[in-house]
Amino acid sequence: MSRPGRHAPRGIFVTGTDTGVGKTRAACALLRALVRAGSRAAGMKPVAAGAVRDAEGWLNDDVAALSAAGNVTAPRRLINPYCFEPAIAPHIAAAQAGIAIEPDVIAQAFGELVARADVVVVEGAGGFCVPLGPQTDGAGLAQRLALPVVLVVGLRLGCLNHALLTAQAVRAHGLQLCGWIANGIDPAMAAVAENVSTLAARLAAPLLAHWDYAPDASPILPPDAVQRAVNVGRAD
Ligand SMILES: Nc1ncnc2c1ncn2[C@@H]1O[C@H](COP(=O)(O)OP(=O)(O)OP(=O)(O)O)[C@@H](O)[C@H]1O
Ligand SMILES: [Mg+2]
Repeated sequence: MSRPGRHAPRGIFVTGTDTGVGKTRAACALLRALVRAGSRAAGMKPVAAGAVRDAEGWLNDDVAALSAAGNVTAPRRLINPYCFEPAIAPHIAAAQAGIAIEPDVIAQAFGELVARADVVVVEGAGGFCVPLGPQTDGAGLAQRLALPVVLVVGLRLGCLNHALLTAQAVRAHGLQLCGWIANGIDPAMAAVAENVSTLAARLAAPLLAHWDYAPDASPILPPDAVQRAVNVGRAD
């Protein structure tokens, strides 16, 4: 894969139909594919909730996974500007800590990461419209970063409505849905193929991958899928 050119997006925003649907798995799969294709790829989790202390401060599992999947070294304050100890809704964790989540701070950190990488894969918190503060939410953050969006659909009953609403919200914020991933998180789900084809007919974005239920898998996206997402999101 060629490195992104002057007009290529410098990042991809990974969102999901809900929390726990495979955003980190997808972001890591994107990062591994980019690394394999010769790019300098950095993961970013702007806001994380649920962390343990280590020598560098608070460490969240997603941040550790994204750092391991990419190939760019950066201080944690850039990879994860906001990290809260309790695994609760971020705006509540921030309020409890007396901290305001500032999109400006996140945009600044993103800019510093972009300077070190060819592509930055940004994993949102929770679902697309998750509140981040009294006036801010995840959708506004994606808009502020002006990134094309990859939607991870956690395949379970109810995912059709969640996926279609999320796609609507992405477009309503003036952003491009550059691809989606069907992720088999429920081994008991019935009519999986029919659900995936229903979404394929309605989402108007390429299906980048369909992963079966596999708790221990570390998938990698095929290079053509990443190229397709990058091309759809290309500004020129
Ligand atoms: N296809 C799959 N098959 C089985 N387990 C899966 C699959 N995809 C994800 N999981 C598991 O589901 C859990 C949630 O996945 P992941 O952490 O990627 O979700 P997330 O959307 O990033 O969650 P969060 O909102 O907490 O960031 C993880 O334990 C992961 O290993
Ligand atoms: Mg995650």
